Amino acid sequence: MEYWDGRYVIMLLAVFLIPASLLLLLSRNKPRSGRLPPGPPGLPVLGNMFDLGSLPHQTIAAMRNTYGPVVWLRIGSVSTLAIQSAKAAAELFKNHDVPFVGRNIVDVMLSHDYNKGSLVFAQYGSYWRVLRRICSVEMFVHKKVNETAPVRRKCIDDLLRWVENEAAAGSGIHVTRFVFLATFNMLGNLMFSSDLVDPVSEKGSKFFNAMMGIMEWGGTPNISDIFPCLRWLDLQGLRGKTDRDLKIALQIVSAFVKERCKEGVQDSGKRKTDFLDVLLRFEGSGKDEPAKLSEHQINIFMLEMFLAGTDTTSSTVEWALTELLRNPKAMTKAQEEIRGIVGPNRRFEERDIDNLQYLQAVVKETLRLHPPAPLLIPRRAIQDTKFMGYDIPKDTRVFINVWAIGRDHESWEDPLSFKPERFLGSNIDFKGQNFEFLPFGAGRRICAGLPLGNRMLHFLLGSLLHSFDWELEGNVTSESLDMAERMGITVRKFEPLKAIPRRVVA
Ligand code: HEM
Repeated sequence: MEYWDGRYVIMLLAVFLIPASLLLLLSRNKPRSGRLPPGPPGLPVLGNMFDLGSLPHQTIAAMRNTYGPVVWLRIGSVSTLAIQSAKAAAELFKNHDVPFVGRNIVDVMLSHDYNKGSLVFAQYGSYWRVLRRICSVEMFVHKKVNETAPVRRKCIDDLLRWVENEAAAGSGIHVTRFVFLATFNMLGNLMFSSDLVDPVSEKGSKFFNAMMGIMEWGGTPNISDIFPCLRWLDLQGLRGKTDRDLKIALQIVSAFVKERCKEGVQDSGKRKTDFLDVLLRFEGSGKDEPAKLSEHQINIFMLEMFLAGTDTTSSTVEWALTELLRNPKAMTKAQEEIRGIVGPNRRFEERDIDNLQYLQAVVKETLRLHPPAPLLIPRRAIQDTKFMGYDIPKDTRVFINVWAIGRDHESWEDPLSFKPERFLGSNIDFKGQNFEFLPFGAGRRICAGLPLGNRMLHFLLGSLLHSFDWELEGNVTSESLDMAERMGITVRKFEPLKAIPRRVVA
């Protein structure tokens, strides 16, 4: 889909809306005083909206030759700064992290007051700090991630069984569908100690379908976000659809929460403590008690973990398998390493990951070329800021184009080739200190689930490579394999990967 469906937008704007909103918009778009970064000239009112195409990270990256690594755009009525070199990213994260720490609230997130419980869209302040602390101390710290290994073990066993059953016919399968479901269940089990989906029994499909809907509406470009003054019209009906699906998802999560409250916070030893137990320890009115969370905030937080963790993880596994199928030598090397260390007589375990340098390099190389959030989650300037000699006004939206930075020949040798070897013996990591490689972001708003996401990625990919050999289907060869991208809540493969698995070890 085009980033903006041009005909639809033009028709609406020209016939109904421009006359009504022109004065307002023009007053907002008056040239500001101060020096702005260079950028392409835009149309009156619409700005650079149609310059973006269906894959904005790619089109903005292509502007670098003309305008340099710091680019100014006006997308509808939203002033936008794009950063696209390691040097500019370092300047931002080292010296201006706080001025750019805000978030733009996207329109669909106003549905059911989602934004009032969200961590992703929380403004920098006490509520955001409480949630980040819960994440870093109670949920995603390495010790806690280690303690929840059995939950992921069970979901990986399910995944391997699903793949094997589906592969029985000997034809190609859409492997990422199963990876997505397994990731969804990992998060479900970590949060509520419950499997939420089963591809065979359709168990939990109501919740799953509602969550898929929310992801789809959230990943669709929305006119309301480029002309916030038109939000009330909900021209594409996205807010309405989100309202419907969020209501269903919230009812289901809220039933889990109520049930747990009746049962009392886990103390019987019947099951391991899950995220819901942790969150209920922080329950309170939420009002005038900054360290307490209301029931609504707990519900939204639980939902958000699915939204933040599922598509990111499963799309990265899809890209990794795709790159390995395109690069058979790397595939062989990765499998030989895993099979050499794990052997044929036991399952791949999370504890193996530390010993698998090449697998780690494959994951890094995949995230370098295919960061699932190529512009990160856009930031917002919370104050007027002097940045690299430019005057960036308050409320400017900030894209950090980590897709472009990961492919920049100033930072990487032979940047477009998939070469996991570049990471062997190198200290470059994705923890926010190496500004040429930022798939999880950096600074205060770096991915809150990084340790868990990192663990899931290696466990999923390593298990699939240990248990199966993979082949492309039919006439598709490693040279002809389609690598086109499609933008949604994350950047995925345009054509979902289809590959034939052949079971090699038990
Ligand atoms: C491949 C896996 C993942 C990738 C590549 C990824 C990437 C990102 C990125 C780029 C951001 C924005 C960072 C910024 O603004 O600088 C982010 C934020 C976030 N991620 Fe992840 N993520 C992944 C997995 C997860 C998982 C598994 C969870 C939790 C279950 C999670 C939870 C979050 C949350 C809550 C935020 C918002 C943090 C804030 O605004 O303070 N992510 N992630």
